[in-house]
Parts: sequence; structure tokens; C-alpha cells
Amino acid sequence: MPVPPAGEGYDVVVVANRLPVDRDGSHPDGSPRWRRSPGGLVTALEPVMQSQDGAWVGWSGAPSTAEEEVSEPFDEGGMRLVPVGLSGDEITGFYEGFSNGTLWPLYHDVIVAPEYHRTWWEDYVRVNERFAAAAADVAAQGAVVWVQDYQLQLVPAMLRAARPDLSIGFFNHIPFPPYEIFAQLPWRRQVLEGLLGADLVGFQRPADAQNFLRACRRSLKLVPRHQGVEVTAADGSQRRVRASAFPISIDTAAMEALARSEPVRARAAEIREHLGNPDTVILGVDRLDYTKGIGHRIKAFAELLDDGLLAADDTVLLQVATPSRERVEQYRLLREDIELQVGRVNGAHGRIGHSVVQYLHHSYGREEMAAMFQAADVMLVTSLRDGMNLVAKEYIASRHDERGALVLSEFTGAADELGQAIHVNPHDIDGLKAAVVQAVVMSPREQRRRMRSMRRRVGEHDVQRWAHDFLTTLRPDLAGQVPGGADEARGDDAEDEHAGQARGEDHR
Ligand code: ADP
Ligand code: F6P
Repeated sequence: MPVPPAGEGYDVVVVANRLPVDRDGSHPDGSPRWRRSPGGLVTALEPVMQSQDGAWVGWSGAPSTAEEEVSEPFDEGGMRLVPVGLSGDEITGFYEGFSNGTLWPLYHDVIVAPEYHRTWWEDYVRVNERFAAAAADVAAQGAVVWVQDYQLQLVPAMLRAARPDLSIGFFNHIPFPPYEIFAQLPWRRQVLEGLLGADLVGFQRPADAQNFLRACRRSLKLVPRHQGVEVTAADGSQRRVRASAFPISIDTAAMEALARSEPVRARAAEIREHLGNPDTVILGVDRLDYTKGIGHRIKAFAELLDDGLLAADDTVLLQVATPSRERVEQYRLLREDIELQVGRVNGAHGRIGHSVVQYLHHSYGREEMAAMFQAADVMLVTSLRDGMNLVAKEYIASRHDERGALVLSEFTGAADELGQAIHVNPHDIDGLKAAVVQAVVMSPREQRRRMRSMRRRVGEHDVQRWAHDFLTTLRPDLAGQVPGGADEARGDDAEDEHAGQARGEDHR
């Protein structure tokens, strides 16, 4: 692959399965219409890329057709976007199949059974090659290329083979499983070799990095030392690959500013009013995914109503379940289950004009999400396994009033950082019920104490810092060029504390 002439191409290239926008039909004049694509990866990377003069290589979220109008790079939302086309068959084999029918369940504790199909693997290899070629095309000489997530684990090695001049980073947004589970994968060697094409492999938690290094030892007979391994190329040259944890975060200041804005505050009050001004609003916000434990949450809620520990007249569970991977069988079955459960609870406990579970199967703008966070007394995150869970951090960031309580599964990456949340094992329904009651009755003083500590953490460890830490570990010479160093001032937590005291709020 030819290296672009000096001065051409981009110095920072992100390669992710999805572009930050999805194709959403066309405008009347025939030009493509875009909407923000779902999920934590876009939430995290969008603000980072908007602050860089870089390019983002990814799929548009729709099948490519012969007359595809968007195959050329284009600018959107302050970013240079480079679309990679996938045919309908590739979406089936690469995205719905190997990525979300094999790797997703395998990497999430086999909550459902992974399927292993050789044709899916062939599509995965072919599509990874296409992403690698697209990145190699747009990267400037000596550029940093940052490959994202489990859909593209072969890209680092493919890219290194084509462009040895690049610095290559990889970040896995989801857990990396223990070897005993990973070992099921018939292509485990190829996946590890693909990842080892990177100079730095990042994970959410230290345990994920350890699992990866252990897999390298067991499968490839490499000897991990000092959070990394030495790999030997075909020509005998040696290279060190580092593996460590970089817990991802959100654009905390932007989330807080949004939550503080007058329209969002007004909308939060309106939402409570539309819900019938109940005493307690409990909120869940998740992609409709079997890893999120939505069914466990609804079961606990229903039992609390049955037991009379929550009053049906004065409590609403607002559950946003974002449509996700709807052509994958397990996701279709999940939707049926959840909607059946919601119907049952509402049938048993609702009355005319009042549903105890408000179930919304939609995507929303960020303002609406911020308003929902503001409107909620209790936020429920009950994932059975989750790389990080950014929703938990968004809830914390948006509670500038230091009110609200967070119930957080211990199986999320976020639980490592948010020690002042009420931690739960979502499989333990009695424990989950007790945690919900604890959150509902928590005094404002206790809410404030916990919120302050969690807000400090999320304020100091935002997504800019995450990107800065990763990129400067990969390439120390980037310090000073990437915003988000730990020394930069961010957040106004200290100021908030004093302001709160001055206003004399809720010091009960
Ligand atoms: P995942 O990456 O598994 O989807 P995360 O909790 O880490 O889970 O990230 C989800 C992101 O998607 C968050 O930024 C959240 O605000 C956003 N999100 C979730 N549901 C919706 C929705 N219905 N509309 C808009 N954004 C949503
Ligand atoms: O981090 C997990 C992840 O797969 C991300 O890559 C993506 O942002 C999110 O979940 C949503 O998934 P999908 O792109 O399949 O809709």
C-alpha cells in the first residue's frame, strides 16, 4: 500500500464500525439525511474527534447500493467522515452474524449462546480488510490510527502489514472474557494476532487487560511482562505490544451544561407532569439488549408493587429501550419478552390514565435524555455484564442539583469508579428490590453526599481525559496536542459545593 505523499492525509484517524451518524433516508432534494447513531462509542468519541483535525472511518448503518451517493468522504457535525460500504449480505454475516451473534454474547459472559459459523467468519475477515484498506488510504505518513471495538479486531494487524509507518492503537469498548470462555472461539488465534498488530491495546478494566494477556499466553505461548508482550514478526524483528485499562467516560461538562439549560429544566418538570406528578420516578435507559438486565429490573419492580413496598399510584418506572440490532433473533425474542412483561405489570397495577411502567421504544435527542435524567429520582442500571455503561455517568453528570440516587450493577465497568452508587447483583432479585427501596427512601442529605463524590469522579475523569491518556500513552509526543490532560481545569465541583452550601439546600 503506497504511503501518501508528505502533507497529505490525516494525522489522527479513528476507525469504528459505525460512523457517528446513520443514514436516515434523503431530503426532498435527494441529498442524504443523517441522524446520530446509537450507543456509547459515538457518545465517547464524537467530542474527541470534533476537537481534532482528524478523519473518522466507518459504516453508514445502511446497506450500500450500486448507486450509493455517500461513498465519498464528507463533512458532518464538524468531522471528516469516510464511509465504508457494506452489502446486505455483509451486514448479515459481519455485523448481525459474527459481531453480534458470535463475539457480543461470547464477550458478555455467554448470557445467550454464541453461534459459530464459518461463513460469518469469512465475512468478518473480508469486512475487516475493507476497513483496514480505507484507513490506510486516508492516514498521513506516520499518523496515529485508533481502531475501535470488537467488530474490527483484525484491523490492527492488517493495517500494520499495509502501513508499517503508522502508530496503531486499539480500544475494546466491551469486556474481554476470561480465557475459559474466549477459548470457545474457533478463530481465537487469528483474533489475538489481529489485535497484536496494535502498539497499544486498551480495555475498560484492568481485569479485561489481564484476560487478554492471559489469552496471549495460553493461545500464542507469549510471555506477558509489565502489561505487555513481545511479538516477533516474520522477518525476525521484535515489537512490544502494551495492554492496559483506560476506563472510558463522557463529555461531562457538555452534559452538565445541557442539564443546567433552561429548556431542559423546563422539559424535566413537564415530563414529571405528564407522568402524573408521581412521588417517585424511576428511570432505565438502555439499548434493548439482553446484557442490560431490563427483564430483571421489571421483575423486581413488579414484585415491589405486589408486596406493597412501592405504591402503584405514586410510582412510575420510565423505561427507555432504544431499538437495537433488530434483525438478530435473540434481540427479537428479547423485545417480545420485555413487552410482554411490561404489559403484564401495567395490566396488574395500572389504572385508567396511569401506567406504572412507561415503556418507550425510541431514540431521543440529547436534550430529551438530559431532561429525563433530571426528572428521575432513581436511576436503575442493572446490566448483567457491561464494558462501562455511560448512562450511569450521564445521570451523575446531569444531576448538578446533587439529587437523585443511582442503583448500579456490580457487573458494569462504571461500578469500579462509582463506589457511592448502590451496588447490586441484578441476578439477586431480593437484593435488587432492597436496593430500589433504599434508593427510593434515601434522604436528600444522603443523596447529596453520594452525588458529590460521584460527580467529582466523573468531572475529573471525562472523555477528553480518556482520549488524552490513551493517545499520549500510544504516542507521548502528542501531549500538548490532544486536549484533556489531567492538569487542565475541568468541572466546577468545588464551586458547586460552596454554592450549594451558600444556598442552604437540604442540609438535613
Ligand atoms: P451501549 O454502548 O451498550 O449502548 P452505554 O450506556 O455505554 O451502552 O451507552 C449508551 C449511549 O447511548 C449513552 O450515551 C445514552 O445516552 C445513549 N442512548 C441510549 N438510549 C438512547 C435513546 N433512546 N436515545 C438517545 N440516546 C440514547
Ligand atoms: O460498545 C458497544 C457497541 O457495540 C458500540 O460499538 C456501539 O456504540 C454500541 O454498542 C451500539 O451497537 P450497534 O453499533 O450495534 O448499534
